[in-house]
Amino acid sequence: MKIDCLPISEEIKRIIKNNGFSSLFPPQIESMKVGVLEGKNLVLASPTASGKTLVAELCILKKIIEKGGTAVYLTPLKALASEKYFDLKKYAGLKGIEGKIKIAISTGDYDSSDEWLGKYNIIVCTNEKVDSLLRHEARWIQNLKVIVVDEAHLLIDPERGPTLEIALTKLKILNPKAQILLLSATIQNAEEIAEWIDASHVTMDWRPVPLKEGVYYDCKIDFKDNSSKRIDEKYVDPILDISMDAICKGGQVLVFTETRKSAVVNGKKFATTIASILPKREKLALSIISKQILSSGEKTKLSEELASQIKRGASFHHAGLPIQHRRIIEKSFKEGKIKILAATPTLALGVNLPARLVLISSYERYVPGYGRYPISVLEYKQFSGRAGRPKYDDIGESILIAKSDREKNDLFENYVNANSEKIESKLAIEKVLRPHVLSLVASKFIDSIEELFNFFSKTFYAHQYDSNIIRPKIEKILRFLCEEDMIEIFENFIDATKFGQRVSELYIDPLSAVIIRNALFDRARKLTDLSFLHLISHTPDVTPKLYTRIKEEKELNIFAESHIDEFMIELPDQIIEFENYHFSYSEFLSELKSACVLIDWINERSEDEILKKHNVEPGDLLRLVQTSEWLLYAMHELAKLYRQQNLLKKLSELRIRVKNGIKSELLSLIQLEGVGRMRARSLFNSGYKNINELKNAKISSLATIPLIGIATARNIKEQIGGAIDESELKMIKEENVSSENEQRLITEYKE
Ligand SMILES: Nc1ncnc2c1ncn2[C@@H]1O[C@H](COP(=O)(O)OP(=O)(O)OP(=O)(O)O)[C@@H](O)[C@H]1O
Ligand SMILES: [Mg+2]
Repeated sequence: MKIDCLPISEEIKRIIKNNGFSSLFPPQIESMKVGVLEGKNLVLASPTASGKTLVAELCILKKIIEKGGTAVYLTPLKALASEKYFDLKKYAGLKGIEGKIKIAISTGDYDSSDEWLGKYNIIVCTNEKVDSLLRHEARWIQNLKVIVVDEAHLLIDPERGPTLEIALTKLKILNPKAQILLLSATIQNAEEIAEWIDASHVTMDWRPVPLKEGVYYDCKIDFKDNSSKRIDEKYVDPILDISMDAICKGGQVLVFTETRKSAVVNGKKFATTIASILPKREKLALSIISKQILSSGEKTKLSEELASQIKRGASFHHAGLPIQHRRIIEKSFKEGKIKILAATPTLALGVNLPARLVLISSYERYVPGYGRYPISVLEYKQFSGRAGRPKYDDIGESILIAKSDREKNDLFENYVNANSEKIESKLAIEKVLRPHVLSLVASKFIDSIEELFNFFSKTFYAHQYDSNIIRPKIEKILRFLCEEDMIEIFENFIDATKFGQRVSELYIDPLSAVIIRNALFDRARKLTDLSFLHLISHTPDVTPKLYTRIKEEKELNIFAESHIDEFMIELPDQIIEFENYHFSYSEFLSELKSACVLIDWINERSEDEILKKHNVEPGDLLRLVQTSEWLLYAMHELAKLYRQQNLLKKLSELRIRVKNGIKSELLSLIQLEGVGRMRARSLFNSGYKNINELKNAKISSLATIPLIGIATARNIKEQIGGAIDESELKMIKEENVSSENEQRLITEYKE
């Protein structure tokens, strides 16, 4: 089917054709046939890179242009949301009946209704963000014309699936006429999900680049289509032998590893081997990327290892890396510069990174604290689906590695020839259900117990099983919320208290809120930074808990004893049960470790020192910092609610310190835009201790301070309103010209 034949405006056709598309892919044709452009709901289950996004884009544009209103596009990750946002931007400015189409993205700040979003027509959000917007009763969310759920198989995720399921059920109830599109590459039971949302379903195996799935054993790969391929035993290491075979033929390789450590070790191995075969021009481009890694963010032994691998054409990728490094790796791999990437399974959930060859080096997954277990078929399909780069490869290959003939047969049976698991609702997990029950009451979505059960009868869980099964769990949660003063039940009516209302808006687990509230009243004898940082680490919102080694446990024990009167909770001496929360001494030590990491962070220890001392990698540190900052904000808000005025200043300062990783003395300087912990420290050490002292400083003196430079100096002066004299301006202009030249040279060098 030609793009020209579609019943959409000429302007949309022009943009799509400008993108190089002339006709539709088969799953797109099937979607048109079931009436998706006429507004029919759809579950589209088709492989990676089969063009699901275009189907959603066409539906959104047609509706919004012809009928006006708003569409939301939901994704599970912030990185995916920004990828989609930049993709959709090409349609901004198209004319609709309500004026020009405007596109927005919203992924942060969970304590806001973001009414400004109401002015936009297409809004890209993460699932969690839309859930928080629903709690804040954002008005525009009740006037949706199209709802797109990308990567809809997330419904099966025990931690995050229920949030998506609840948000989608609410959106459906609020917008009964909105068109709903669910997209995924791995849905086995599309029909069942389609019944739930009254949709058609299209399930297709078509891929733009065919996929050959196989298993390697004893120098030979056997494929599902009965073909086979011999692999030379050049390196006596199957992973290297298979990868180098593909790289020498011009392909790129993605290797999924079980642990972060094996990703790093494999990356190193690949780097050593590939370096010798790379042409000089490619090495130059790689050395620029390697320098980019070293100059962005703090230097750690991890970033040095990464830079050294990238220089030689290989890389590793895992959640311990800082976000900016992960983005550089992804971009360089997409551009074909990095030839081989050893990644942990988290990559399969992230941005789209296709490769000629996907090697699944281990079909087991290691989760700290839980041990090893075999990956699901759904995960295997997500991994293998990455093979085959549209526009670059004629075919994609995905290979598992067996160590015996028997294992080879098992892998064929359990993965290659197996169907992925059915998507099953995970709504019945009490921990995840608790905040949702509160949010339904607090946002006045329901106001009686009957309506509450009625709501749950409309979920996917109820469609799949029977809502009566979760009834006792909901009743137990209601009792807990009542006892903790978050809701009030009067006969059949149900309402949230001020506490419950605020907890729901703050987007924290009700149990975290109870822990924080109780600590506000039952104070420690001595209140220090440790008191607050340990308390928030104790809440169930800080997950996963940090792993502690035996040697560390001894030190933590001694530390705990010497700070015994600073803790805001009663410490366990053996396993105790707190409501439905089991709390043991080893958990306490793990929480204490989080608090110690945060204390080192706000005492300006470098990321590398934290990595060496606590074995906490920068990516994990960032997650801990972000969650802790949010919980300190929540604690501040609860202290306000309970009129604990004397804690407010302390808490808001501690929050800024945690956010930036600074000592109190940098609180003034950190307010400046473009000044982070390192620059603030540099200014402070050079004698500028606060913003006032910077007012009289000359640009030229500021510019010579380490890490500042002329551009930042000017930026600082502009912010604080200090005078800039003419001769200094001239100097700035010269600097600008030279930095533009530098930029141009780098671009030329890259090309
Ligand atoms: N009709 C078409 N003609 C040519 N290229 C297309 C067409 N439709 C989509 N594409 C291109 O195919 C690629 C994959 O499309 P898309 O990202 O929508 O895949 P997907 O099905 O969402 O895959 P995933 O499950 O990985 O998210 C994109 O680069 C897209 O621009
Ligand atoms: Mg997609």
